[in-house]
Amino acid sequence: MKKVVIVGFGNIGKGVLKAIVDFPDMEVVGIITRSRKRVIEEDQHEGLSVYEIRDLEWQKLDADVAILCGGSKDDLPVQGPYFQQFFNTVCSFDTHGHIDNWFNEKGQPQLGYFQMMNAMACTYGHVATVCQGWDPGIFSVMRAVFKSCLGNCDSFGFYGLGESGGLSMGHSDALRNVVGVKDARQYTHAIHETIDKLRKGEITSATKDQMHWRECIVVLEEGADEESVRETIVNMPEYFKGIKTTVRFISQEELDEKHQGMFHDGLVLGAAPFGAMEYRNSWDSNPLATAYILLAYARATIRLSSNGGEGAFTPLDIAPRFLLEDEGPNLNLV
Ligand SMILES: NC(=O)c1ccc[n+]([C@@H]2O[C@H](COP(=O)([O-])OP(=O)(O)OC[C@H]3O[C@@H](n4cnc5c(N)ncnc54)[C@H](OP(=O)(O)O)[C@@H]3O)[C@@H](O)[C@H]2O)c1
Repeated sequence: MKKVVIVGFGNIGKGVLKAIVDFPDMEVVGIITRSRKRVIEEDQHEGLSVYEIRDLEWQKLDADVAILCGGSKDDLPVQGPYFQQFFNTVCSFDTHGHIDNWFNEKGQPQLGYFQMMNAMACTYGHVATVCQGWDPGIFSVMRAVFKSCLGNCDSFGFYGLGESGGLSMGHSDALRNVVGVKDARQYTHAIHETIDKLRKGEITSATKDQMHWRECIVVLEEGADEESVRETIVNMPEYFKGIKTTVRFISQEELDEKHQGMFHDGLVLGAAPFGAMEYRNSWDSNPLATAYILLAYARATIRLSSNGGEGAFTPLDIAPRFLLEDEGPNLNLV
């Protein structure tokens, strides 16, 4: 039985604990959190040992892989390289523009998340499978397949296909980190006109703002200024800047009553002059679905490590057979 430790107990951390029942070759051996008190009070830890990060008690845990479930904006860039010293890791880092090396607003070069994780994993002889989930993750694999099989055509990812859009957890997390915001949800809406034009071959490219618009539902902290919060949100680089974004302020009661669902869906579309390929997924719960994918890639992480692998791997680097419980030839799946 392979041993999994959960780092960060939010939606995805809780999802991992629910999903593990469908992974009979793996078990959760502990939860590491910044707030042991909160996790114990929430009482969803199913009697598992809960460790406060700063107590370092968790260092005695014997685990094959740590699933890093912190937020992409502020948690993973710090927690990822730190925990990489101690464990093989898998995470769902989804700030696309910061995966590879990037430049900040002042023009300063910044190490990409991949480069940081790769350096730490190589230094400590571990494996880091980064950016797993559905996007990045399964969508990345589909983009690569479509691009190569359709003769180098562009492929496009669309999110929030239904009328209410889809809940983006990364963007909701980013909203909750804005000073003055108490709670928030962000729904992404696909622009269907653009999907139809791409499918019909009427256009061969689309800009970010032709593909989606973003709806932010925000609960303010007491005394916070609506206008300055709105300005901060719509100008947030990587998340909202340059894309149509609406911001609506509501009460905590309304948010609790009407915005608890975590559905999401999406489509990858590759269109060439001679035909098109599509992949679609639809989730009742985005975090639970992401947790399932993370567990499949946790299995692959353990396999890579036991085969002598070291360093960081993206979704494109992982052979599908490593995801299966039985890694054999699996010719029945071919
Ligand atoms: N690649 C993909 O397809 C994909 C899909 C979905 C999500 N994601 C990524 O996954 C990340 C995590 O999503 P999530 O929904 O699990 O985020 P979340 O619920 O906000 O949890 C993030 C962290 O916040 C802390 N936390 C949880 N509840 C809290 C509370 N009540 N008060 C204070 N802190 C709390 C937890 O850390 P501690 O326990 O240490 O406090 C947790 O690890 C997102 O940022 C997103 O980028 C990726």
